[in-house]
Formats: sequence, structure tokens, C-alpha cells
Amino acid sequence: MHMTPNARAFDDWIRDRFVGINTELEALYFVQPDRNVIPAEGEALRQELLASGHAHVSRLLAEGNTDEGFEAAFDLLGNLGMFMAACRRHGLTDPAREQRSPLQAASALALHLGASLGVTPRFATSHLTTHNPARDGVYKCFTRLEAERVFFDYNTRGILAYKRAADALVRTLPMGISHPAVLQLLDDAAAALADVQCSNAALFEALDVDEFFYCVRPYLKPYRVGLQVYRGANAGDFAGINEIDLLLGLCRADHPEYSQLLVDKFLYMLPEDQQRLRDCMRRRSLLDALLEALPEAGGQAWFQAVVPRFLEVCARHGETASQHHDQLVRRFIERPAQALPEEEQGDVTASGPPLSVLLPALERLRDLRRAAPREDIPTRHRDLARLRAALPPTTAEAG
Ligand code: HEM
Repeated sequence: MHMTPNARAFDDWIRDRFVGINTELEALYFVQPDRNVIPAEGEALRQELLASGHAHVSRLLAEGNTDEGFEAAFDLLGNLGMFMAACRRHGLTDPAREQRSPLQAASALALHLGASLGVTPRFATSHLTTHNPARDGVYKCFTRLEAERVFFDYNTRGILAYKRAADALVRTLPMGISHPAVLQLLDDAAAALADVQCSNAALFEALDVDEFFYCVRPYLKPYRVGLQVYRGANAGDFAGINEIDLLLGLCRADHPEYSQLLVDKFLYMLPEDQQRLRDCMRRRSLLDALLEALPEAGGQAWFQAVVPRFLEVCARHGETASQHHDQLVRRFIERPAQALPEEEQGDVTASGPPLSVLLPALERLRDLRRAAPREDIPTRHRDLARLRAALPPTTAEAG
């Protein structure tokens, strides 16, 4: 990737001194009696962060658009976003306190970059995971804390595995559900979702609860760019997860709560992901294709071969969703948040709404993916049961 000298100097700073300042500040905060409060100590470090970041950004703003291509501009947006998110984390900015971001030069540059690239003008998850260029084996991060490395290592692995599952399902589309090669693709999708499960299980074991909650999560909070507050990044900001939802047919693009979620996340994804997701939203799901074929083809060999595999992919997808909600969200967000004083509990999510609003929404999403028997949301519980009923009893039980 080609960078101008100013962009390179900013990148060098982000990879070195910026990480050093954040790491030193986290060490200071972590030993305070109330870890959620930013103490007076560390003010010199915070001012260094602000002044050095601002000096880099001002030079880049003066340089203007040098058109080094999408990758360089996207990468620069990520660096800017990391700087703005760190300012937010250390209380140098606070969207609740201000009407507009005090980081005016950074806002101007981020808005210019975001609008010209077709993405949100803040750092997104891909900046820290799938599109985070490593130098000598080290990718960009906010701190040198073990919990941050563990969190982003496993987020990246989980996202890559979900993308593998989505790729396999997308490849079924031009073939049609009765094509013999679809069996292989469904097995590939199930294996990729099993990889998500393994990676999530390893994350669950390896991540330190307190270090994550107090020293990593705060960098993912919403912050203002110019006038507007942009919600924080979360590991779900890639198209693959929704491609799986839609292609399996477990979630539907005409369900208002679900499509609202898609509308809200479009700009948090790379343009190529936006395109893939838009395309999926127009497609008929595999479940609908199977239900349509059921009356005529239910007894045919191809149908009997494909349905158990399809049900296996659905089961795996439901299991990864349960694992995310019942293990990761519960252990690393919900439980530690309960220990906070009530007035601080509203401030722990990446998207902004309090946990009391976010958790039931995530639970509904989990239950759509599990095709759980719920009457208040349009799960496909009955439709999967119809498919299962078309199989001989032993296969149906295994599915
Ligand atoms: C410590 C680990 C994790 C925690 C505590 C966690 C927590 C959360 C929370 C709280 C949200 C809601 C966003 C918000 O705050 O507003 C969310 C969204 C999401 N996360 Fe995670 N997450 C973790 C790891 C992962 C991993 C490894 C993946 C896999 C790629 C993942 C996939 C998603 C997805 C897809 C969403 C969007 C909502 C959805 O479609 O389900 N998360 N996560």
C-alpha cells in the first residue's frame, strides 16, 4: 500500500507512541478504586495524545486528497478513527457533553474520507480485524494489553470463518438447491460454522473479564464526528453473518426489526460487503426453495440427501448465535455491567442503547437464528419441522 510521507508518519505514531500512551493510561486507571472513572493522574499523557494526534491530522488535512487509492484512504480513516476513539475513551471528548466534536480537523478529514469511500466516517471493525495491515507480525491496536490481542485475534478468526460459511452458501445460488454439488457446499458451510464455534470457545476461555471490560471495551464506544454521534464498532459489522441468515432463510429482509438492523449497519461495512449483502437481500432463501419443492420432490433422493445437510447448517448457525449471546455477551458484558453503579450501566454498549434495551434485541436475533419456538417474532420453527417431518425418523432425529 502506498502512503504519503505524512500518512506514513501518522501510521508510525499510531503503531508506536499512541499504543504506549494508551497502555500507560490503562495501567493507571486499572489500579483506581473505581476503574470506570478517569482520574486526574495521567493528564500529561492525555494532553500528549491530543497534541501529537492533532499535529499529525493537521498536516494530513493541509495535504488534502492525494488519491493514493481505496486501501490507503480506508487505512488512514482507520488511524484517524483510532485516534478519535482513544480521545473518547480518555474523556478528552464526550458526545453527551458536547454538541459537536471538539476534534475539528480530525472530523473534517474523517468526513471527507468516509463520504468519498462510501463508509461511515469512523473506524469500523474491519480496520482492526480483516483489514488491519500487520508489520513484522504485529497489527494495529489501541494498547499492548493481552486482553486486546486475544479479543481481536479471535474476532478476526470468527469473522473469517463466518465469511467462509457465507461464501459456500452464496455459491449454491447459481446451481439451484437440487444440484449434487450443493451437498458439498452445505458441508463446507457447516464445517466453517463449527470453526466459529471453536474460535468462540477459545475466546471464552482465554479472555480476561476485567481487563476486557475496563481496558478494551471503552475504545469501542460511540463518538462524535462533526455534529453526529456514530455508534461503536462490533464484531458483527461484516456482511457474512447476514448472508448466512438470509440465504438459510432464518431471518428475512421483510421483517422490519431485522431489516432495520441491516439498514443501520450498511455503512459500517466495506463497500464490497455492502454490495454482497444487497444482493442477498434480493434472493430466495434455501429454506423457501426446499419448502416449495417439498410437495412434489419430498420423496426424491436429492431432496432426502440435501435436507439433513441443510438442517445441520441451520443447527450450527443457531449454536454459534447461542454461544455469542449466552456465553460471550453474558460473561464479558452483562455480568460485569451488573457490578457497576446504576448511573454508569447505560454506558457500556457499542451501539449506545442501555443493556436493558440491547439484550432483548440480541436475544430475539439469537432466537431467529435458532428457529426457536416463539410466537412474538417470525422464527422458522414450524418450517424446519415440516422439512424434518419429510425425512425418515432416524435421519430426522440426526438432523
Ligand atoms: C468477548 C467477546 C464478545 C462480546 C462481549 C460481544 C458482544 C457483543 C455485543 C454487546 C453486541 C451488540 C452490539 C452493541 O454493543 O451494541 C455484539 C454484536 C455482534 N457480535 Fe459480538 N461480542 C463478542 C465477540 C464476537 C465474535 C468473536 C463474533 C464473531 C464474529 C461476534 C459477532 C457479533 C455479531 C454478528 C454482532 C451483531 C449482532 C448480530 O448480528 O448478532 N461477536 N457483540
